[in-house]
Amino acid sequence: MQPEVGDRNVQVTRDDVAQAAREVGIEPGDTLLFHSALSSMGTVVGGPDTVIDGFLDAVGPEGTVAVPTLCNWPPDEQHLVFERWDPATTPSYVGTLTEALRRRPGAFRSDQATHSVAAIGARAEELTAGHGSGGLRLSPFSETAFAHESPWQRLVDWNAAYCFIGVTFHVCTMVHFVEASLAERMLTRVAPEKRERMAGELAGWMKPGPFPSIRIDDREVIQEMLAAQGIVKSGRIGCATLTCVRAKPMVENWIAIVEANPEMWLSQEYLSWAGEAARGGPGEPCAG
Ligand SMILES: CC(C)(COP(=O)(O)OP(=O)(O)OC[C@H]1O[C@@H](n2cnc3c(N)ncnc32)[C@H](O)[C@@H]1OP(=O)(O)O)[C@@H](O)C(=O)NCCC(=O)NCCS
Repeated sequence: MQPEVGDRNVQVTRDDVAQAAREVGIEPGDTLLFHSALSSMGTVVGGPDTVIDGFLDAVGPEGTVAVPTLCNWPPDEQHLVFERWDPATTPSYVGTLTEALRRRPGAFRSDQATHSVAAIGARAEELTAGHGSGGLRLSPFSETAFAHESPWQRLVDWNAAYCFIGVTFHVCTMVHFVEASLAERMLTRVAPEKRERMAGELAGWMKPGPFPSIRIDDREVIQEMLAAQGIVKSGRIGCATLTCVRAKPMVENWIAIVEANPEMWLSQEYLSWAGEAARGGPGEPCAG
């Protein structure tokens, strides 16, 4: 019988973490990002650094280990949030392991107030550089969060290993990259003369509006669908499930699933917006 999640009688070592990572397909030279619940594994001998070191062992000296370092901002105007943000000191709010990695000597953190990433390893500086410095993409979290110049885009481009320790797609930050990409793809189909207006209607700061948001409960449904496609691998670290999917097929297949059946996944508000956006677009007869 498997121990219950978080059973403190189960001890987890650095080697256990490295071994589990290898078993879900992590290889030397990989870039890896993980979401986590430290307490889910049991007792991690040596604390948070043990997990980080175990992953670093699995990716080796050419590899990179990253975490999201999102912050706990009170609801406020965008300029106030961005003014308060300091990449060197603003704590990460998304788990003890993320804060431990951010604070480790040699860690780099991307400079973006809402969806920063911290990383250690061979490509850490490259992964985190210039977050939002180009290729802006609309989203309710600013246009910089999931820009073409961002760690999130690079995780996809590098086909990073995207992992979850004791948590699921429920907390998958990459969902917002998928949403921003869906919006961007739809906007390219809008007639140029109305693109700016339609983009302006799509999303405001922390106001999703018609933005193509994926409902929280649907994220785990997507996880099951991607697992059925054979691209999600699962293993164990102590008493927690370790889940791993490659970022590129995760994002591409997720977009394909939603675009194949937008009525199932997206809000009526978005569908109306998209209907208006598509009218008179390329390939559509212009009314009047
Ligand atoms: C919210 C969340 C972080 C809570 O997980 P958690 O395990 O309770 O909390 P942390 O990872 O911060 O770890 C702290 C816990 O580890 C425990 N802990 C401390 N040292 C430990 C050790 N050596 N071994 C095991 N557990 C330990 C702490 O006691 C604490 O548990 P407690 O609150 O029961 O006392 C997790 O459920 C989650 O959602 N993670 C993903 C977040 C994310 O990536 N979000 C992205 C945007 S949505």
